Amino acid sequence: MWNIMRTFSQKSVVRTLIMACTLLASLQLRAEDGYRLWLRYDRIDDPALLTQYRSSVTAMVFPAPSPTLLVARNELLDDMGSMLDKKLPIRTTPSDNCILAGTPSSSPVIAQLLSSKYPGLAGDGYVLHSQLVEGKHLIIIAAHSDIGVLYGVFAFLRLLQTHQPIQNISLSSSPLVQRRILDHWDNLTRTVERGYAGASIWNWHLLPDYIDQRYIDYARANASIGINGTVLTNVNANSLVLTPLYLQKVRALADVFRPYGIRVYLTAKFSAPVDIGGLKTADPLDPAVQKWWKDKCDEIYSLIPDFGGFLVKANSEGQPGPQTYGRTHTDGANMFADALAPHGGIVMWRAFVYDVRPQRKNEHFDDNPAHAEGHKAATADAGTSKTPVVDSGAHNIPVSRPSPGEISAPDRFKQAYAEFTPFDGKFRPNVLIQVKNGPIDFQPREPFSPLFGAMSKTPLMMEFQITQEYLGQGTHLVYEAPLFKEVLDADTYANGKGSTVAKIIDGSAFHPGQGSPFTTPTLQPGISPGGQTTVDQLAAAPLTGMAGVSNIGNERNWTNHPFGQANWYAFGRLAWDHTLSARQIADEWVKQTFSNNTTVVSAIEKMMMASREAVVNYMTPLGLHHIMSSSGHYGPGPWLNNAPRADWNPVYYHRADAYGIGFDRTATGSNALTQYQPQVRQQWLDSNTCDEKFLLWFHHVSWSHKMKDGHTFWDELCNRYQSGVDTVKWMQRQWKSLAGLIDKERFTQVSMLLNIQEKEAEWWRNACLLYFQTFSRMPIPPGVGHADQTLEYYKSLRFPYAPGTGISL
Ligand code: GCU
Repeated sequence: MWNIMRTFSQKSVVRTLIMACTLLASLQLRAEDGYRLWLRYDRIDDPALLTQYRSSVTAMVFPAPSPTLLVARNELLDDMGSMLDKKLPIRTTPSDNCILAGTPSSSPVIAQLLSSKYPGLAGDGYVLHSQLVEGKHLIIIAAHSDIGVLYGVFAFLRLLQTHQPIQNISLSSSPLVQRRILDHWDNLTRTVERGYAGASIWNWHLLPDYIDQRYIDYARANASIGINGTVLTNVNANSLVLTPLYLQKVRALADVFRPYGIRVYLTAKFSAPVDIGGLKTADPLDPAVQKWWKDKCDEIYSLIPDFGGFLVKANSEGQPGPQTYGRTHTDGANMFADALAPHGGIVMWRAFVYDVRPQRKNEHFDDNPAHAEGHKAATADAGTSKTPVVDSGAHNIPVSRPSPGEISAPDRFKQAYAEFTPFDGKFRPNVLIQVKNGPIDFQPREPFSPLFGAMSKTPLMMEFQITQEYLGQGTHLVYEAPLFKEVLDADTYANGKGSTVAKIIDGSAFHPGQGSPFTTPTLQPGISPGGQTTVDQLAAAPLTGMAGVSNIGNERNWTNHPFGQANWYAFGRLAWDHTLSARQIADEWVKQTFSNNTTVVSAIEKMMMASREAVVNYMTPLGLHHIMSSSGHYGPGPWLNNAPRADWNPVYYHRADAYGIGFDRTATGSNALTQYQPQVRQQWLDSNTCDEKFLLWFHHVSWSHKMKDGHTFWDELCNRYQSGVDTVKWMQRQWKSLAGLIDKERFTQVSMLLNIQEKEAEWWRNACLLYFQTFSRMPIPPGVGHADQTLEYYKSLRFPYAPGTGISL
């Protein structure tokens, strides 16, 4: 008895001790609301490291003759001050263990260092280098441009935040693409199209007189990861932003962002000369229209000398464009380019086009409609939802409902290629064609857009979507760097093997030397003393760029889901250097955002790295795509067949029928595969050898198709859905194991969000499998969860107020 009591009491003492320690640890963790993002700069919590850092850095020499150098110096002073818990003195000459920051013009030591050791450093790249100068240990933060120094400061701070050694450093880094831009789909009403983090951070009503601290923190956060541009307004544009009243507001934001090297861009509505200019036409070949845009650009540049340029969505989803006037994409884009060129501005002309005409079979971009018969069956069998559904991607589009026969008409996959390749090489040098990563629309997994392999004479800019329109929106933990990397690393074979999408984007596939860290040309009119970029300079150095559709709103923590911040971070880091790995970026982000504790870092990194494949599995495994509901694209809706355009209907994309499922894009189907280079086509041509992750993108396979692991397709599909759900459950367990190691606020928030994610993953599995089973007529294999509701129930769900549908302009 005594022994039992002793064991019991020993156990309970141990348990109580563990609980007390955990409680103590969590009490010591500061309350965190997420506002500080990855820029937390808390006191270094490892005493030995703190002592080491303190002795390595005791002062700084940091002349600050420009606004950019001033913000760089203040950033370094403040953040070092809080990490080392000690204010560093600023000196005019270096002392021992001193930081020396600046450009060649501010210091002969820096001039000597850059010319002797880093002769290739160019543009806004930076160097972090420790060396002995006249017997003194110096840590040098150097660059050729002021903004490069700011980037160097943030890189140095990152080293400390992630607990890296700083005693013997010798590293340099330069951006591989020039324009690293966030695209905000923010409306002047402050709604955000596909935004899940509250209202727009731009308070248009109070601008220009009220400058929210958030604007400054936004600029700091972006500069810390190398983002150097922001498109303030929605691609579904509103001409009002080009009126004098709004341009004053834009100017105020540009003034805030300028010291941080961030230029503002605007979306230009093609019809602006009519909407706000009093003209009768917006025809790009009309001299009065051309003059209107030239005058408008002169006006903008008189207010904002470093204005970046325009992003244009034309002839897509109801937006006006040159085709409205019988003109071409080149006519339209070049008109803007000519108006912007004298000022060094650029045009980002989007390739996300599909026209508004009711679709018909046998259009020029679709010569071989796929599976019309099978599809008719699918349409007839599929959902019978009575409520007319209007996709909120529709913007003032005159539509007519397709008849069932038309639903298998043109393959939207093919339209961008068909519309743009004829104009390869015909755009002005200050035009970038902005191409979405995949051919359809930011799905959880898409093959890369065939345009990346087909426009050798035109600079192409990547458009990723950071906001999670199709990836669980504001509530799912999905780390997007693996998605970004998968696309960037894909080989287009456009100029032989190794012509990866990344090399198309950074220009090096066709212009050897470009994209290499040491030869990135400097193009920064108005920001650095370098002055304005001329058209000649642009011709000599083709433009390069990467854009990410922002996930930022005015929620306290910016992105609603605390892990949404990781996607903003990852986008910036990859736009700077696409050779970084997804894991490396996750590692940095976790250490800066949560903790350097190895248990925390390892658990969170594993969750992040598994999360993208999980969402693919529980939403759209094996190449399924575009099967979400029409209520703001929230939740599953594979049965939908009554949207006004054929290609807004999930049934158009999955084509499930009694035989099988998938979109045949081979020669027996839409033949979209011909848009890829032969080596790429070859990889996906045969349903037996096609990479299974893309199978249903290119093939209509039978339900009993034999998969590589020996399963039938149907069983594999069911298993994949289950595996997605299982991964989310595993993520919950991982997260729970971190109790006490993460501050309570964010720990609780993520726990609740993971619960939502689990429910929704099960919802996707249940709804999709019940629906597809009506075609396969096969049993759900063992180990796969069964639906607790009927298919009719899932079909009846409506979410009229789902966030992100804010299309009011
Ligand atoms: C998607 C999205 C729309 C957006 C469009 C675009 O279709 O749902 O909201 O306007 O992409 O990229 O232009």
